[in-house]
Amino acid sequence: MRILYCEDYESLSLRAGSLVISEITQKRDLLLCAATGSSPIGLYDALVTRSRTDRALFAALRVIKLDEWVGLLENDPGSCEQYLRTRLLDPLGISPARYIALTSAPSEPEEECKRIRSELEQHGPIDVCVLGLGINGHIGFNEPGPVLLPRCHVARLSDDSRRHAMVRFADRTPHFGLTLGMQEILAAKRIILLVAGAGKQQAIAGVLSGEVTTTLPASFLWLHRNVDCLIDRESVSPWNPG
Ligand code: F6R
Repeated sequence: MRILYCEDYESLSLRAGSLVISEITQKRDLLLCAATGSSPIGLYDALVTRSRTDRALFAALRVIKLDEWVGLLENDPGSCEQYLRTRLLDPLGISPARYIALTSAPSEPEEECKRIRSELEQHGPIDVCVLGLGINGHIGFNEPGPVLLPRCHVARLSDDSRRHAMVRFADRTPHFGLTLGMQEILAAKRIILLVAGAGKQQAIAGVLSGEVTTTLPASFLWLHRNVDCLIDRESVSPWNPG
């Protein structure tokens, strides 16, 4: 894992943006796995800014949604769908044919996961996977616990996840999420882990300890050969490893 300390959130976002743009430059029809939440907002803004002067760069880009809350309407402002639509898909002009998405209100969640597994088998692997670090060390909705699941599944959300800012104003806080599994994430050719925002000190300290444990799902990223972990120094302050 390459650990990159960034001065602040803006420099983290610009560095992450350059990494993704250089990958798209080399492979125009790249499959980008997109997390939501506060950490990748600046990265997505950097892509959108680039698209204003180089629309063609994104003309073949494909996107897969990393995870979704179960039970929110797709147009709920807290849904991952609405987030990606506003921040990434619409501004970059990603057509439905170039987007693989877990539905937020599936009538049969298990069937929805099966559908995504087979989409990924057909159209994967992911080329670049953008992840945020949960305050409890989760990635996607792969929550800490005695076991982790390899493939797309329905996840019971931890209390920490249920307190996430995205669903703070939801009418009913979701109890479940749909998420790509650990193997599907680890099969990505390149992973970019963004560590930004309040309350991440303990989780990132655990990751940097180098121990791999199911109680800290992000620690499994040590098993991958091509991970960039970008850390916003301001967020992890006062814990500051230098
Ligand atoms: C969201 C997701 C989550 C977040 C994580 C960090 O799609 O997959 O794992 O990345 O909870 O959230 P933020 O970036 O809001 O701190």
